[in-house]
Amino acid sequence: MLLLALESSCDETAVAILSGEPGQPARILASEIASQIELHRQYGGVVPEVASRNHSLHLRPLVEQALAHAGVNMRQIDAFAATSGPGLASSLLIGATAAKAMAAAAGKPFIAANHLEGHLLSPFVDTGIVPPHLGLIVSGGHTLLLDVEAPGAYRKLGSTRDDAAGEAFDKVAKMLGLPYPGGPEIERTAHDGRCDAFSFPRSMMKEPGFDFSFSGLKTAVLYTLSERNPETGTPLPDDLADLCASFQEAVIEVLVVKTIRAAKHSGRRLIALSGGVSLNKTLRAAFEKACHREGITLALATPGLCTDNAAMIGFAGLLRAFAGESSPLDGDIDPNLTL
Ligand code: KG4
Ligand code: ZN
Repeated sequence: MLLLALESSCDETAVAILSGEPGQPARILASEIASQIELHRQYGGVVPEVASRNHSLHLRPLVEQALAHAGVNMRQIDAFAATSGPGLASSLLIGATAAKAMAAAAGKPFIAANHLEGHLLSPFVDTGIVPPHLGLIVSGGHTLLLDVEAPGAYRKLGSTRDDAAGEAFDKVAKMLGLPYPGGPEIERTAHDGRCDAFSFPRSMMKEPGFDFSFSGLKTAVLYTLSERNPETGTPLPDDLADLCASFQEAVIEVLVVKTIRAAKHSGRRLIALSGGVSLNKTLRAAFEKACHREGITLALATPGLCTDNAAMIGFAGLLRAFAGESSPLDGDIDPNLTL
């Protein structure tokens, strides 16, 4: 089956073409992304109107580019998928409407994909098989622990009560005067810092359950900044690397401890990490170490599949198509879609 997938839930316009058969590794024939990061950087975050306008501008050239890279033409595509939620309404509408139009014109099925399911299943694109496991999605919008029995059979174990992990990276980076998106900037800056220089809180570690909270940590960084430099609240140059390393360590420790605890609770021996924050090398190393210690297998998405992309949407779409599912053309987007 050849599937063309669109992703436009936030600030990345993405198009992918995948070929796949049930139980076989999915082949990514093309995965194109028009990033809007530079555009939104001047505002310190994503501006919805700017995002949707740029999805409209980029979508058609990207589809043509993807077809050319994959070496296929539109008539060969068997199904069309697009993210229908969660995300920004005006952004979701562009990709979902375009995919429906292409499906209608070609007389082929349309598959509405859940962005979170795209992330969740992304570590398994290479194998094509999703075994029972514990999934942790850590992105800019979500921090979600799910017990996965099989594709489509998910049980939520925990989520963040306030900021998502990536959101905390982005907000703390902004406080520190680092550009958007903050995650990669904090990781880079933390490289030369000491992770025990500041003792930041590890929220909800002692509480039962598997929920997270990162807003207290964000406030602790803010207090530290204003204590050390009351006039401007900005970090002294000497502090920057230590602050980043200590903040990053606090986020990672909570994620690792709670995820391992959830794996033990649910009896899963496989943990899969996905989402933009799972690109973080210190986080990947911490999970590798903890999983090795506990005799748990770790599945990581390849770096190109961690941040928003259309290949993960295509894989989720392929699995739904293999199960004989498709979506109605009059179905709506859902900015608050959950799993
Ligand atoms: O999955 P994603 O591309 O978009 C959402 O669905 O939200 O994740 C983006 C998030 C941003 O908050 C960004 O700062 C964070 O992932 N991120 C990172 C790193 N790379 C991206 N966080 C920590 N370390 C990184 N290296
Ligand atoms: Zn995402």
